[in-house]
Amino acid sequence: MVCLGNICRSPLAEGILREKLRLNKLNVSVDSAGTSGLHAGENPDSRMCETAKSFGLNIDSLKSRKFTVQDFVNFDLIYAMDSSNYNNILALAKTTSDKAKVHLILNELYPNQNMAVPDPYYGGEQGFIDVYNLLDEATDKIIEKLKANG
Ligand code: 4NP
Repeated sequence: MVCLGNICRSPLAEGILREKLRLNKLNVSVDSAGTSGLHAGENPDSRMCETAKSFGLNIDSLKSRKFTVQDFVNFDLIYAMDSSNYNNILALAKTTSDKAKVHLILNELYPNQNMAVPDPYYGGEQGFIDVYNLLDEATDKIIEKLKANG
C-alpha cells in the first residue's frame, strides 16, 4: 500500500487489510510505504489514527518508511493511492514484471476509472472518514480476489 507520506492513506490501508486477512485466515503479508521519505520514522497522522479508532482499528504503532526498489522484490502486488504515487512507483520499476505489480487501489472498486483516494492531509475530518470508507470497500475487493485465487 503506497501513498505520498505514508502517514495517512497507506498506513490505514495496511491496517484495514491486515485485519481482514486475519479474519479470513489468509496468510498474506502486507506493508505500506510512501513515495516521499518526508515523514520516514513517524507514526501515522493522529487524525488518521483517531478515525481508524472510531471504526475499531488501531494503527497507532505503524511507522512511515520510503518506498524502495526492493519492494518490487518483496511484494507481488503494489497498490498506489493516486495516479501521482502510481507514476512515481512506475518510474522506479525496472522490468515489465515489476510494472505489472503496480495498480491503482480504487480500480479494484471502480475498474478502469483511475480514481484517487483523496489526500486528506490538508482537509477536515470528513476527508479522513471518506478515506476510511473507500479503503474499507477497496480492501473487501482485494480480499475477494485473494480468496478466489486460493
Ligand atoms: P498521505 O498524506 O500521502 O496519505 O500519507 C500526506 C501526508 C503528508 C503530506 C501530504 C500527504 N505532506 O505534504 O507532508
